[in-house]
Amino acid sequence: MNEKLSRDLISELIVKAGEAREFSYSPYSGFKVGAALLTDKDEIYTGCNIENAAYSPGNCAERTAVFKAVSEGKTSFKAIAIIAGKNEITDYTSPCGICRQVLREFVNPKEFYVIMAKSENDYKIMTLEELFPMSFGPENLD
Ligand code: THU
Repeated sequence: MNEKLSRDLISELIVKAGEAREFSYSPYSGFKVGAALLTDKDEIYTGCNIENAAYSPGNCAERTAVFKAVSEGKTSFKAIAIIAGKNEITDYTSPCGICRQVLREFVNPKEFYVIMAKSENDYKIMTLEELFPMSFGPENLD
């Protein structure tokens, strides 16, 4: 149990990440990823990974969710759930380095929770600070 997120909210985020994973466009890797991002107002934005025949234009599920939210004026977030795997979900998947940096832009790393899920009842939670220590963010430019 997390002191800031209720069990119900964690479940809802994992279920929504799983639903978004169904939309994964990943014909090249076959690795299907879904993410569900929680705003400070408890709204949820989902995303999936979107690959491309030219490979490098591909986008991760986490960034899809962040960009959807920011493009609708939401720039403050509390948590993200991620669920991923080719067919069966056998591992906890953590966000790639680029996604960690993109999330870092909009959150307090000590208070933002990354929920890495295998299922609704099997997940690990870490703060962004734990996953991405000594990060560079907007305040470094002040
Ligand atoms: N991917 C994500 O969407 N999120 C992650 O956290 C890890 C990797 C995607 C990128 C690519 O489409 C596929 O998974 C294999 O790397």
